[in-house]
Amino acid sequence: MQSLQDILEQYEKEIRSFAPENAADLEAYRIKFLGTKGIVKQVFGEMKNVPPAEKRDAGQLLNAFKEMAELQYESFKHLADAQGSKGPAIDISLPGDALPLGTRHPLRVIENKIVSIFEKLGFSVATGPEIEDDWHNFNSLNMPADHPARDMQDTFYVSQNPDWVLRTHTSSVQARILETTPLPVRVICPGRVYRNETISARAHCFFHQCEGLYVAKDVSFADLKQTLYYFVTEMFGADTKLRFRPSYFPFTEPSAEMDISCTVCGGSGCNLCKHTGWVEILGCGMVHPNMLRNFNIDPEEYTGFAFGMGVERITQLKFQVNDLRLYSQNDVRFLRQFEAL
Ligand code: PHE
Repeated sequence: MQSLQDILEQYEKEIRSFAPENAADLEAYRIKFLGTKGIVKQVFGEMKNVPPAEKRDAGQLLNAFKEMAELQYESFKHLADAQGSKGPAIDISLPGDALPLGTRHPLRVIENKIVSIFEKLGFSVATGPEIEDDWHNFNSLNMPADHPARDMQDTFYVSQNPDWVLRTHTSSVQARILETTPLPVRVICPGRVYRNETISARAHCFFHQCEGLYVAKDVSFADLKQTLYYFVTEMFGADTKLRFRPSYFPFTEPSAEMDISCTVCGGSGCNLCKHTGWVEILGCGMVHPNMLRNFNIDPEEYTGFAFGMGVERITQLKFQVNDLRLYSQNDVRFLRQFEAL
């Protein structure tokens, strides 16, 4: 019995340390241990020399050994099958293939950049709902129901509730901030907005804006200009020129639109700037006193500025994308091209 145990232990060691490199190794193993004249058969042949009193224990030992030898064979064979019969055994210590990494969406790259520039000036991020009520999207922004400016923005209405719209601009977040936040406030509000436009290279039924709002004591138009000047310098470089043109928005007075010198031709004229040398990038102005009053803020005590820019527009200027539809087609060949700034 003792010598049987010793023999089996010896073989077991051999089996456990066996590492087949190919199918031939595996077959050699099978013949050596499990073949008709193999070791398993031989050790079972020893049973006849075991005294009757020990036969039961010896039988158990032998069966366990046989099972172990067979199991070992099965697991090697399984590995070999998994990699085709001829190749080398799998080296499970090698590192695996890395999964391909995605890239950020170009609009998100630019949105992050816009936000981080304003964060350096002390603005914090605020967001609001995309389904908005009439009060926050229009009325409180000095656009009552019959206001002609409502026509400037082709609105999607929500059929379940005549008071609900898909927000047409991120200025609705201004309204929510003034409603809930103690002054002074300084926020930047990125988000998706919706307008009922026919989809083309230059228009889409949804796009993205970034709104800025600063309300405190003694905020002036000069503060607005300097803030936007800093933004343009950080985003487009110190050589970029900017200009303000008088404009109209119901919720700002005075209002302006801001142009920058064309980032493609540098101002000499090209297709992108329609040969004017300038491209419009945002609307802005001093928060209208009526709007402040709508939120119980005294316009004699507080003043503020606001601006809103289209993220697609900035992205187009930065990356020279000429078709708005590309942003939502999810073609990875397009999306893969934009590295974080
Ligand atoms: N909400 C305006 C738009 O969508 C942009 C704007 C924001 C203008 C804030 C002035 C102040 O066109």
